[in-house]
Amino acid sequence: MHISVLLHEVIDGLQLQPNTNVVDATLGYGGHTQLALDNIAPHGKVIAFERDLRTMRATQERLKAYGDRLICIHGSYAELRERAEEIRKHGPIHAIMADLGLSSLQLDQEQRGFSFRFQSPLDMRFDETQQRTAATLLRDSDERTLQNIFTRYGDVPFARRLSQRIVQERSTHPLHTTSDLIMCVESCVGKRIADKHMAQIFQSVRIAVNDELAQLEAFLPASIASVESGGRIAIISFHSGEDRMVKRFFEEEATDCVCPPEFPECRCTHRARIWKVTKKPIEPSEIEIHTNPRARSAKLRIVEKK
Ligand SMILES: C[S@@+](CC[C@H](N)C(=O)[O-])C[C@H]1O[C@@H](n2cnc3c(N)ncnc32)[C@H](O)[C@@H]1O
Repeated sequence: MHISVLLHEVIDGLQLQPNTNVVDATLGYGGHTQLALDNIAPHGKVIAFERDLRTMRATQERLKAYGDRLICIHGSYAELRERAEEIRKHGPIHAIMADLGLSSLQLDQEQRGFSFRFQSPLDMRFDETQQRTAATLLRDSDERTLQNIFTRYGDVPFARRLSQRIVQERSTHPLHTTSDLIMCVESCVGKRIADKHMAQIFQSVRIAVNDELAQLEAFLPASIASVESGGRIAIISFHSGEDRMVKRFFEEEATDCVCPPEFPECRCTHRARIWKVTKKPIEPSEIEIHTNPRARSAKLRIVEKK
C-alpha cells in the first residue's frame, strides 16, 4: 500500500472535467491516477509515466477495471516532449500532475536498497534496466562529487568528512550493501549522529543514482509546452532542491519580463505563459501528516497555462 499525498488537493486543484485527458508523470501505486480517472469519466484517459517497470505492472493490474482509459508508458517523465505526439494520439492533454520521489511500495521492497531498514544490495534504481546503481555511484564518484551529492541532495552537515571516509574505505572494502554504507557512516561520525542523518544520506544517494533533478529540469518546460491552454499542472515535491527548482521555474514562466533589474527598459521577448493558481505551496494538514508521516515535507504547486 502507498497512501497518496495531498490527493484531493491535487485532483480538486486541477479542476478536472468529464472526458478530458490527464498525464500522470509519476504513476506509482496509482492513487492520483485512480481519482483522476473517476473525475474524467466516462471517456477521459490518463496517460501515465512510470520509470519502475515492476511498479507499473502492479498498478496496471490493480487498475485493470479502467480498461483502455489508463495508458501506461514505461519511461521517465523527462521524455514528455519526445513522446508528446504519441500521447496526443489519445487527444489533447488537459492537465498534468507529478508526485515526485519514491513510493512506499519501493521503500518496502527489501531487495531494492532504498531503505536503510533492510540489509540489501546498494541498488536504488527506479529503472532497473539502468546501469548505474548506488554501489557503482559510490565506487566511481570522486570525493568532490560525493560531497556535492550529500550536500545538495541531503543537506548532510558532515558531507565532506563522509565523502573522504567513503573514498578511504572503498579502497579496501568496496561498499556493496546497505549495511556497508551504514557502517561506513557510523565509523565516520558515530552511531548517534549517523542514525539522525541516515535518511538524508540514503535520500541523497537515491536522487543522484536516478539523476532526479535533471529529470525534473527537462520535464518542467515540456509540461507547459504539452498542456492545452487553460489546462493545469500540479507538482508535489518532497525535497528543498526540487521545490526550489519548481518554484523558480514557475515564477519565471509567470512573469512577462525577465530582464536584469538594472536594465532601464525591457529588452527581452519573454512573455508569461502561465499564471500561478497557488501563490504559496499547499502543504499537508496536521491530520494528513499524522496518518501519513511521509507527507511531512510535501509541497504542492499548481499553475494554469494562459
Ligand atoms: C511518490 S510516487 C507516486 C505515487 C502516486 N502518485 C500514487 O498516488 O500512488 C513516485 C513514483 O514516480 C516514479 N518516478 C520517479 N521518477 C520518475 C521519472 N523520472 N519518470 C517517471 N516516473 C518516475 C517512482 O518510481 C514512483 O513510483
